[in-house]
Amino acid sequence: MLSSIAELKRVVFDEETIAERVRELGQEITAAYPDGELLVLGLLKGSFIFLSDLVRKIDRPLQVDFLVASSYGEGTVSSGNVRLVYDPETELAGKHILLVEDIIDTGRTLNKLVALLGQRRARSLEICALLHKHAAEHLELEAKFLGFDAPTLFLVGYGLDHAENFRHLPYIASLT
Ligand code: IMP
Ligand code: MG
Repeated sequence: MLSSIAELKRVVFDEETIAERVRELGQEITAAYPDGELLVLGLLKGSFIFLSDLVRKIDRPLQVDFLVASSYGEGTVSSGNVRLVYDPETELAGKHILLVEDIIDTGRTLNKLVALLGQRRARSLEICALLHKHAAEHLELEAKFLGFDAPTLFLVGYGLDHAENFRHLPYIASLT
């Protein structure tokens, strides 16, 4: 069973490296939104640790809410069918929406969400991703704020899971 920390192959981004980059992202985001209402919308579950660290580095008023998207139709492989299991109750119209994602792989999840959220009459819609594998053929909206380019390895920790394990690790490691 792949749930023991001893089975992790190597640390790809350590705690200090992540903290430093999250601090910089907070500054970038603060500078990018000089006015208006900002709603930071975390995509659960993967973004929960990143989002909680990130919002504490954003030095301006903001609101936080979450989205739960479910991808189904092809089992464990990311499928093109994405639906919202939890839809934020917060009003999106007229606000700057910053969608926070843990990792962009094929980009299918984000493409569907951008299409869905694009109908909510937000003032602006941008993406902040911690990691980007640059594997997507087509992204409706590129991440305006990005933590790190990720290697094409399966990564866990700092919110990222493998079969729901490893989310709690304070660093990001590869399984292979
Ligand atoms: P996409 O729709 O293919 O871009 O898939 C994005 C989602 O797949 C992320 O939100 C993660 O939940 C998951 N994912 C993609 N790559 C990894 C990885 O390396 N480790 C853990 N989860 C991943
Ligand atoms: Mg996942």
